[in-house]
Amino acid sequence: MTTAAPLTSDLDLFSDQALADPYPQYRALRDLGPAVRLSRHGLWFVSRYEQVRSALADWETFSSAQGIGLNDGFNDAWGSALINLDPPAQTEQRKLFTDRLSPRALRPVAEDIDRRADELVAELVSRGSFDAVTDLAQDLPVHVIMDLIGWPEQGRDQLLDMAAGWFNSSGPACPRTAASVPKVEALMGYLAEVVAKENLVPGGFGWTMLEAHKRGEIPVEGAIGLLAGYVVAAFDTTISAISSGVWLFARHPEQWELLRSDPSLVPAAFNEIVRIESPIQVFSRVTTRDVDLGEGVTIPSGARVLHSYGAANRDERHFPGPDRFDVRRNPVDHLGFGYGNHACAGQGLARLEAHAVFKALAARVERIELAGEPVRALNNITRGFRSLPVRVL
Ligand code: HEM
Repeated sequence: MTTAAPLTSDLDLFSDQALADPYPQYRALRDLGPAVRLSRHGLWFVSRYEQVRSALADWETFSSAQGIGLNDGFNDAWGSALINLDPPAQTEQRKLFTDRLSPRALRPVAEDIDRRADELVAELVSRGSFDAVTDLAQDLPVHVIMDLIGWPEQGRDQLLDMAAGWFNSSGPACPRTAASVPKVEALMGYLAEVVAKENLVPGGFGWTMLEAHKRGEIPVEGAIGLLAGYVVAAFDTTISAISSGVWLFARHPEQWELLRSDPSLVPAAFNEIVRIESPIQVFSRVTTRDVDLGEGVTIPSGARVLHSYGAANRDERHFPGPDRFDVRRNPVDHLGFGYGNHACAGQGLARLEAHAVFKALAARVERIELAGEPVRALNNITRGFRSLPVRVL
């Protein structure tokens, strides 16, 4: 019996150039087959919508339990974190998040978020020009969200950098990954100190994790991992989504006009932003058996498989004209928040924040223009900007 050689590519998905504009490579890899072996990284890559969704829906075959990062150091260090577990342990720990982040639990904070977004946008409009990352997108995650978590005031300013470092540190062996290690060590130390000193506001979201640890339900590493789930996941992702949205509207004034004339489109527009510029581009799983993906492609058991939310969300086999930004598309089935048992536990909160910002902008701003060259924040996992100078009229 002969076995077909796997489809192989030597593309480097983690070079500066690829991270700045990954879409041409994604398209080439999607066209090559349902899964392709990336020879430079020793990984399989799954990038078509159907296969990515099926993999995310099947944790027994595509397991997170050996970590979702691309290097052993990361996977060993964060082995007890929610995102690196399979059911039943994952199901248990996840309840701690979902209880506090359900739509009903979030209802009382929605008004605060709307008010803060409106006041901030009013102030920025009066200035006329500002940085959409540092002045706008970072505001709600750093202030309102950290208050909800009950995070100590001291040290909050270091968290943005540490959180970006966490995502980078899960990348493949390369200088960008290596450079992030000290930031992640600092993050781990900081989180361990917060847990040891019980330095969280009683009643806040973070307190729930601390109490579960004190009741003996989760080990100390589990509590640290869960807190990381807040401070890491709640920052870079939401900030990227809001700033990517502003960038898209600056480049597509007709879409801004549509939104302004019908603000009820804000939730649909946010789905479209997360689809077309997915804040988390890739994560990985390990196969627990041989998987036949059709077209003669079989991923062997024990293989690390990189799956791309960003590539799947641009798959022309699923989304017609996937590179077109269209606020009326409302792609409710996009994979930008993941899918299956690990689907984003904080998406309700992310939506509240982003909807509040775009509603406030739509009420006060006629046109958004770029006021300088945007600077991308190149990251192994996330896609966003370091700086985005804009002018609003
Ligand atoms: C636009 C903003 C956001 C995006 C695009 C996003 C995206 C994602 C994605 C793709 C996953 C799936 C990971 C996987 O498949 O392994 C995920 C998981 C997760 N997200 Fe988010 N996220 C966002 C905001 C947030 C916020 C604000 C929070 C917390 C308040 C949060 C908390 C989590 C947690 C805890 C998980 C792990 C869930 C689990 O493993 O069961 N996320 N997110």
